[in-house]
Amino acid sequence: MTEGHRPVLLAETLDALAVRPEGRYLDATFGRGGHSAEILARLAPTGRLLAMDRDDQAIEVATRRFGEDPRMTIVKGRFSMMDIDRGMAPWQGGFDGMLFDLGVSSPQLDDARRGFSFRRDGPLDMRMDRQSRPTAAEWLNSAPEAEIARVLRDFGEERFARRIARAVVAVRVDAPIVTTSQFAALVAREIPRREPGQDPATRAFQALRILVNDELGELSRALPAARDLLKPGGRLVVISFHSLEDRIVKQFFAHEARGDAYPTRLPIPQAMLSPRLKVIGKAVRPGVAECTANPRARSAIMRVAERLGEVS
Ligand SMILES: C[S@@+](CC[C@H](N)C(=O)[O-])C[C@H]1O[C@@H](n2cnc3c(N)ncnc32)[C@H](O)[C@@H]1O
Repeated sequence: MTEGHRPVLLAETLDALAVRPEGRYLDATFGRGGHSAEILARLAPTGRLLAMDRDDQAIEVATRRFGEDPRMTIVKGRFSMMDIDRGMAPWQGGFDGMLFDLGVSSPQLDDARRGFSFRRDGPLDMRMDRQSRPTAAEWLNSAPEAEIARVLRDFGEERFARRIARAVVAVRVDAPIVTTSQFAALVAREIPRREPGQDPATRAFQALRILVNDELGELSRALPAARDLLKPGGRLVVISFHSLEDRIVKQFFAHEARGDAYPTRLPIPQAMLSPRLKVIGKAVRPGVAECTANPRARSAIMRVAERLGEVS
């Protein structure tokens, strides 16, 4: 355990990155630095690691733990901005490996004041970056009913999305919904059949979190940027925690491995389609032992790709 967050698929990630001691690496989701610490342990004094996170607390921990390490650069920001972020300028030569360990960290989930968890009463906030807007409550208390229903359905795969949206709009006429418990109780009242082993608020909370942090947009914009910043032979490792994210990663990898789209009737050899990535192995899931020791690993799925091209 590292500062309250147990890194998921740690050994598998390090194997997939195949860290070269003199290489240059990006940890796009520093969190509490579980993966970063292991990458650093494999780097020589000439190796380099750039750690990013959009959460100020993660950046504080990164600075406290690794701020003095000359191999380490720490940048606060969204990973979708990595190609235009000013702090990235010295890295334009490219990376030998990149890690995206998506979603929230345990400290974010466990701190009631951050408002991510339906198990803890706190403000309905859910922002990873507390300088961004809106909070989950601000959005829920102002969005049109149809938009709330769409978000619950598309991002939470919630079957009772319309019913919940109707109840939100009815309740907020009298008083805004401001706490996690208020929203969790409202959702529970509107769901007639519960899924065994799952809190009724699980899907609605996931939907709001994805919306507030634009998680799918971030990932969709970051993957092409990551591809372009990888050196030939460099590895891209993505760990997802729900099927919406994993679908984006899987489809992007498949598209990049196929290369340019030509009409299928043209007899063009595969090499001429100039594929940009090669998919490495199959999707990896944590074993029983890891899931038992760390229940948050249960939904993790890791995919790995390698940048194709001429090594100069
Ligand atoms: C699952 S945790 C990473 C845990 C980390 N690998 C460790 O071992 O401690 C995900 C982290 O990514 C950050 N994050 C999520 N989306 C981000 C984005 N679009 N840009 C930058 N950071 C992001 C979150 O703030 C969170 O700290």
